[in-house]
Amino acid sequence: MKKITIAIDGFSSTGKSTLAKQLANHLGYVYVDTGAMYRAVTFFAMKNGYIAADYFDKETLINSLQFIKLHFEYNSNVGFAEMYLNDENVENQIRNMGVSNNVSRVAEVSEVRAKLVEQQKEMGKEKSIVMDGRDIGTVVFPFAELKIFMNASPETRAQRRFAELQEKGQQVTFEEVLKNVQERDYIDTHREDSPLVKATDAIEIDNSNLTREEQFQKVLDLVTATTKSL
Ligand code: DC
Repeated sequence: MKKITIAIDGFSSTGKSTLAKQLANHLGYVYVDTGAMYRAVTFFAMKNGYIAADYFDKETLINSLQFIKLHFEYNSNVGFAEMYLNDENVENQIRNMGVSNNVSRVAEVSEVRAKLVEQQKEMGKEKSIVMDGRDIGTVVFPFAELKIFMNASPETRAQRRFAELQEKGQQVTFEEVLKNVQERDYIDTHREDSPLVKATDAIEIDNSNLTREEQFQKVLDLVTATTKSL
């Protein structure tokens, strides 16, 4: 089968990474979670006191970008590549509500985006990649052979995220999670640099009423059709 680039974009908690991981494992492709990269930069900024709920020293973060080294390392126990910040595994630390609450403001900064997009383009040079995020089909890989845009209602997404966080033992209410989902939707779609929009040639999938398996099969059929048409 011909090797292609698969771009998966969409709103937060639409199950992009679950689908992307499934696809990459099935196809033997590399999977890259670009949200993890924005989260790792946010974690760095929080640790150094550059950002908090009511405070953001953008300039210092921009000047410190040269000291941020990100890489992914495949962990066969979990079946995907984990995020490393300056050689420290930060996979768990970047998934908490603190980081979720600050990440959209960090992702608005053009200098942050430029650095991460450059690294993402480099990772995709060999094709055979599934990358998920917000601007993959529009900015990172505008020529991707297959672009998927995922959607689901805010309530459905908040419910999924809430269940995930509860499973991890984090103390949050459903209302807090829903508010976070809605706020991120707003910032992600309204920011000046690379806002979340569906690429004109992306295929939209609303998975509010689809099981994981149904969705996977649907996308796998699209992959087959795309590779056949090349
Ligand atoms: O996919 P996620 O929820 O882990 O992403 C975290 C945040 O990072 C999200 O609020 C928007 C931002 N993001 C982005 O701006 N561009 C990307 N390609 C990926 C994520």
